[in-house]
Amino acid sequence: MSDLAGKHIVLGLSGGIACYKAAELCRALIREGATVQVVMTEAAAQFITPVTMQALSNQPVFSSQWDSREPNNMPHINLSRDADAILVAPCSADFMAKLLHGRADELLSLMCLARPIAAVPLLLAPAMNREMWAHPATQRNMAQLSADGAHILGVGSGFQACGETGDGRMLEPMELLEDLIAFFQPKLLAGKRVLVTAGPTFEALDPIRGITNHSSGKMGFAIARAAREAGAEVTLVAGPVSLATPRGVTRVDVKSALQMLEATMKEEPRADIFFATAAVADWRPVTHSKEKIKKEGAGKDPVVAFTENPDILLTVAQGQRARSGELYCVGFAAETHDLVAHARAKLARKGIPLIVGNIGPLTFGLEDNQLLLVDRHGVQEFPRASKVALARRLVAEVARRLPAAA
Ligand code: CTP
Repeated sequence: MSDLAGKHIVLGLSGGIACYKAAELCRALIREGATVQVVMTEAAAQFITPVTMQALSNQPVFSSQWDSREPNNMPHINLSRDADAILVAPCSADFMAKLLHGRADELLSLMCLARPIAAVPLLLAPAMNREMWAHPATQRNMAQLSADGAHILGVGSGFQACGETGDGRMLEPMELLEDLIAFFQPKLLAGKRVLVTAGPTFEALDPIRGITNHSSGKMGFAIARAAREAGAEVTLVAGPVSLATPRGVTRVDVKSALQMLEATMKEEPRADIFFATAAVADWRPVTHSKEKIKKEGAGKDPVVAFTENPDILLTVAQGQRARSGELYCVGFAAETHDLVAHARAKLARKGIPLIVGNIGPLTFGLEDNQLLLVDRHGVQEFPRASKVALARRLVAEVARRLPAAA
């Protein structure tokens, strides 16, 4: 994946122990295809050396406004002009206060002030002790910086280097990377609410055993991520999978089809778009033993009776909101053969505007996939790509199909 290919990021470091995370962040940005120019304050250089940052970014680091390497001696102008974004990580409480007042007595703050404000976004990753974070001055500064057009990326919570526990830690490098990638995605679903079901369901036989399937949940999680990147508010109803929750997505964990139905119906009244990507088990055992079912001896085979699970997508699609066009439903068809024919049949049977077909064994557990979009007008093919890339294309396609006034 190269989600930042062609992007030039100026990575600013102000003073704070979280500078050690900036090294990992710098590598991650480069791994995603960005070019990185590091600018450090004098305080940042107390925590991590410019040598480390130069080696990782493969560019000389700038830390002084008097740096004579620039022919015009104006690094504060030159460094920001071709940047796609300036990301200050860590952004200390002091640096925030400086930015707020438009102070410019060292290179990083001078460069932030001198950046073309409409063309070069400024993203801040605060990092400080929990008391400093909670202080009214910091909260006030943050609100004003937001109003002035800076994007505050939030903070993590937990054990802090000072030994205290609370809010104010800098986000982890991978979280910052995900936020930066999301920042650059077009906001095609701004103001929309998206509901996604993902993963398999698990239908228990007893406390030890049950039936499930090979769905990894990766496609559904990728769709939740892509919808959030596109500016939607996203709820993800997830079957039993151990995937990380995409940033900014609300996750509801369930196990069985009945639990998935209940969680989905609770969220459905608020949703504008429903992606049913879950591989819901078609049947569940009629009885669920409270105790482990024991072997009864040689030759005696157990008999398990099954009953059909409710069809979650069908239930939602037959609801008043879907029928009146307030809720746009997207179904998935995981097949082993005759994909188009099966997808067309499901489109009709479920009464939905769009179904996305894929070949189950060619996608389960993999990082990539290929999709076939089937609607009443025809078939559109999305060739093999990463699930996140396909999810972004699908989200764009759905955004295009939404009723204009909705
Ligand atoms: N689906 C659902 N609830 C079910 C079964 C399926 O919400 N109990 C949804 C899936 O999330 C998917 C679509 O319906 O979006 C099609 O799922 P699939 O399992 O491929 O099809 P089925 O309707 O179960 O038909 P079949 O098993 O005969 O292929």
